[in-house]
Amino acid sequence: MSMTDRIMRYEFGYNEQYPAMEPLFPAGANRLFCGDNLALMHQLPSECIDLIYIDPPFFTGRDFNILSEAKVGRSFSDIWDGGMLDYVLWLSIRLAEMKRLLKPNGSIYVHLDWHAVHYIKVEMDKIFGANCFQNELIWHYQTGGASKVRFSRKHDTILWYSRSPKDWKFYGERIKTPRTPKSLHRARNPLGARISQLDTEKNPNDVLILQQMNPMAKERVGYPTQKPEALLEMILLASSDEGDTIADFFCGSGTTPVVAQRLARRWLACDESKTAIDLSIERLACNGRLGIPTPDFTVEVIEFKSY
Ligand SMILES: C[S@@+](CC[C@H](N)C(=O)[O-])C[C@H]1O[C@@H](n2cnc3c(N)ncnc32)[C@H](O)[C@@H]1O
Repeated sequence: MSMTDRIMRYEFGYNEQYPAMEPLFPAGANRLFCGDNLALMHQLPSECIDLIYIDPPFFTGRDFNILSEAKVGRSFSDIWDGGMLDYVLWLSIRLAEMKRLLKPNGSIYVHLDWHAVHYIKVEMDKIFGANCFQNELIWHYQTGGASKVRFSRKHDTILWYSRSPKDWKFYGERIKTPRTPKSLHRARNPLGARISQLDTEKNPNDVLILQQMNPMAKERVGYPTQKPEALLEMILLASSDEGDTIADFFCGSGTTPVVAQRLARRWLACDESKTAIDLSIERLACNGRLGIPTPDFTVEVIEFKSY
């Protein structure tokens, strides 16, 4: 292969090939897209989204299959012939587009695990700026087996970056966690107490202790890698307001749009797997729990494949 064959050119933002979508919600409804998220993002106007959450493939080297009674089939592949370099490039060009889409006080949460999070942290420092890094959230759970040959791997990592180094939304008070009995006991000591006894809750720290969905959980739809709604609820409550626009460009079974809809946010979601989109539609439209008689969203197919 010659050097020129290896040069790839990426264009950011929309151009003649990707006409702009204006406005963001032309039909007034929220939007679910089936197709490659890069092609979708190319068409979206800059600075239109308040909060992006993504849960992309983690570089696990595996294929993921859907496991439910009604549907059996391949959902998505996480095998990278070009190795880590290929994966990091693939995700980085998408992260750069996401930065363009965020409003000046917007935020992005990127959900990964030990396979690639350290590589992507470096890329995010370059793309968003190290001064826009806010948190490395550790989501600790206890499901799955225990390892006999190493410490059991029981956490995912979620990187939070703001678009601006000075201005972002954070409402810790909405997702307070209970104080431990020990710290409440200390609060009773009139000499050393720094908190009031009545202060039984505190703003959350960066370790989120939240169990994975159990196999019988009502929200489980059988999509591999499906994330718990409670996790998304925490993120949306912490970093967005009612009416804000939330985007998930790797939405899988639709966890983010389901939660966004319930919390009265506007949303945009995308996945290239038809199985994922079918499940998201079912979950959003037919889910009586949401109490929404008329589904407030459109489903669109994106034609182009970009890288
Ligand atoms: C880890 S799963 C997301 C699971 C989701 N958070 C849930 O709760 O169900 C990653 C998703 O990314 C999708 N995906 C991978 N590459 C994509 C691309 N280029 N454009 C859109 N979706 C993509 C896969 O089809 C898969 O559904």
